[in-house]
Amino acid sequence: MNDEDNDMARLEILKIGHPSLAKTSARIEAIDDEIRRLAEDMIETMYAAPGIGLSAPQVNVNRRLITIDLSVGEQASDLIVMINPEIVFREGKVVREEGCLSVPEIYEKVTRPQKVRVKGLDLTGLERTIEAQDSLARAFCHEIDHLDGKLFVDTLSPLKRKLIRKKFKKKDETVEL
Ligand code: NI
Repeated sequence: MNDEDNDMARLEILKIGHPSLAKTSARIEAIDDEIRRLAEDMIETMYAAPGIGLSAPQVNVNRRLITIDLSVGEQASDLIVMINPEIVFREGKVVREEGCLSVPEIYEKVTRPQKVRVKGLDLTGLERTIEAQDSLARAFCHEIDHLDGKLFVDTLSPLKRKLIRKKFKKKDETVEL
């Protein structure tokens, strides 16, 4: 992935409180060079973080594109790039701790389906259906929530949410000083 000939770039990952993270992202109508480039950059950014998933709004692009790789680059076959992903079936409930690159160092228990079926397009425009369970199902739900302007902390109690937002506000002010 560190080929000097390509021009992939690491992008800045937005943090909680940034307005782009709260917006509903637009469907992608054409898979052009811009979208392919965005996907490449998101993959590099996800691996560098390192993270197991990333959504376009986290890099300040409000378009419906997600990348997931539970192996974080160890297994090429684990990489999923999906355009306009939609959950068409969900089943079961699993409570597990979850985190997010946009909410660093915060891990909270979130209930997610045990199994989901996700439909979307791959980078060549082919329709894909993926059956996902457990961690992969969780990753899809988490990343698709980002496309709808939702963060995992939004499911927590109002008090917990307030404390988390306060913590990040403080951090930002410290950085600015
Ligand atoms: Ni996230």
